[in-house]
Amino acid sequence: MNRTLSILLVEDDEEDAFFIKNMLSPSNTSLHCQISHLDGPVEALKVLETEHIDVCLFDYRLRDSNGIDLLRQVRAKGYSQPIVFLTGQSDPEVAAEAIKCGATDYRSKNNLTAESLTRCIEMAIQLQREADLRERAEEELKCANDKLLDANLELKNSLQKLQVAQESIIRSEKLASIGRLAAMVCHEVLNPLNIISSHVQTLMRHHSGDPTRDDHYKSMREEIFRIDKILSDLLRFSRKGNMEFQDVDFNEELDFVLSLLEKEMRMDCVQLERDFIQEEVVMKADPDRMRQVFLNLFNNARHAMPQGGVLTVRTKQVVREIWQNRRKEDVRIDPEKIPVRRENFFHIEVADTGSGIPQENMRKIFEPFFTTKPEEKGTGLGLSVCFTIVEQHGGFIEVESEENKGTSIHLWLPIKSCEENIVPVASAT
Ligand SMILES: Nc1ncnc2c1ncn2[C@@H]1O[C@H](COP(=O)(O)OP(=O)(O)OP(=O)(O)O)[C@@H](O)[C@H]1O
Ligand SMILES: [Mg+2]
Repeated sequence: MNRTLSILLVEDDEEDAFFIKNMLSPSNTSLHCQISHLDGPVEALKVLETEHIDVCLFDYRLRDSNGIDLLRQVRAKGYSQPIVFLTGQSDPEVAAEAIKCGATDYRSKNNLTAESLTRCIEMAIQLQREADLRERAEEELKCANDKLLDANLELKNSLQKLQVAQESIIRSEKLASIGRLAAMVCHEVLNPLNIISSHVQTLMRHHSGDPTRDDHYKSMREEIFRIDKILSDLLRFSRKGNMEFQDVDFNEELDFVLSLLEKEMRMDCVQLERDFIQEEVVMKADPDRMRQVFLNLFNNARHAMPQGGVLTVRTKQVVREIWQNRRKEDVRIDPEKIPVRRENFFHIEVADTGSGIPQENMRKIFEPFFTTKPEEKGTGLGLSVCFTIVEQHGGFIEVESEENKGTSIHLWLPIKSCEENIVPVASAT
């Protein structure tokens, strides 16, 4: 050890101090030492605070105090230098207490030699160095562990987002193929249905008079209307083109559809709340199709509140980040690199205080023909039509629901793309 060691010796016995200093003089030890000798604990704490000390040697019996108290204070203040505890006579209890309070080693002054003190100091320094290394390694390990946990969490989030993206694509593709099939079937069925309908009308015109027969005709006509409605819904659901985009004030459209239902809602004890954005937001949209979306959402809410409740329609303008996950090929890209885009959305929330949707049905509600309503009340096409229409407008739908508390359907319709603000997923919130 070539470096000069700074040693703090706290010893109130002048004679003992002399002997110890002598043992550590260059003629008796290979250590290069510079010794600060003090006889009381108060000064010792000051020196530790202001000077660099490599090793401490504390005597057990000090004038107004003892070495154990000093040891406790030194460790309580966070000083980690190796401390060798020295006593006049060998006492195992004192030794145990000293080690418990943070002493690195313990020696009796009775049999102390220059050689044993030198070895003891070297050993204490070595132990301290190992403890420091261990502490640093533990800190690094903890840091690495924290990073691993963060990375794991990020991975979990990315996987979750990927799953949502994948589900959305599967849903879009499923709907698209069902849509194509539906369009074909509808055209095939609508022609003979029109023929049947005109025959029924002819029969009604020319052969009325018998009440039983008239009832049959009426029932046939109603069933034809029902089939016609289902087919028309199906066709609307499958049609991709023929959209008539024009400037639409969404607050106005929502208000219009709500006013159509207001009377019926009141009869059903459903209270209407409008919480619309103050500014006028005009966007390009197909008003007929959007009305169809609103009508279905309001009717769904109404049907979910047979005992009455509150239907709240809220509109807002919100900038939010979304994944560019609408296309199939995007899913295969490394999730870290998939960009998200910030977009300015018109957000419509249709919230009811009704029955809510059971968890097991949440995935099914957008599937064509999924309904929990009796046959005469629902075909199960409403939400799949809504999904298609909203998608055709570049938007998307989100659903929040809690059983027996209510449901909120969120429509997100892009107002203006802000793609210049693309940020990598990793830094997105
Ligand atoms: N607000 C809501 N509260 C509770 N359940 C809902 C709500 N909206 C939709 N649902 C559930 O989702 C199902 C599907 O809704 P969807 O609008 O697609 O079809 P529908 O209302 O049953 O029939 P229709 O074709 O006449 O709209 C409903 O039958 C109902 O179970
Ligand atoms: Mg519906």
